[in-house]
Amino acid sequence: MSEPAVRICSLADLTDGEALRIDVEGHRLCVVRLDSEVYAIGDRCSHADVSLSEGEVEDCAIECPKHGSAFDLRTGQPLSLPAVRAVPSYAIEIVEGEVMVELS
Ligand code: FES
Repeated sequence: MSEPAVRICSLADLTDGEALRIDVEGHRLCVVRLDSEVYAIGDRCSHADVSLSEGEVEDCAIECPKHGSAFDLRTGQPLSLPAVRAVPSYAIEIVEGEVMVELS
């Protein structure tokens, strides 16, 4: 059985095209709003312990600020080297303007 979704912020707290780091229940999330969509992937780069939310968002990816690997915001998969492992990706639901994440 999956865990119930957890509220992490309001949609209004997120700036379009920018990443926000949110720590919740032991998970470190990189949360990005693109228009009316919100994505959440693991904030810790799979190449080294660097915060992806400090990187630049382009198209539907975020670039690690340290060595430049881009990660797909939909899947957490790396799109360029040097990172080769995916970061976690989390399902997001928006309920009445509140952003909910499934942490399981
Ligand atoms: S620390 Fe992210 S690509 Fe190296």
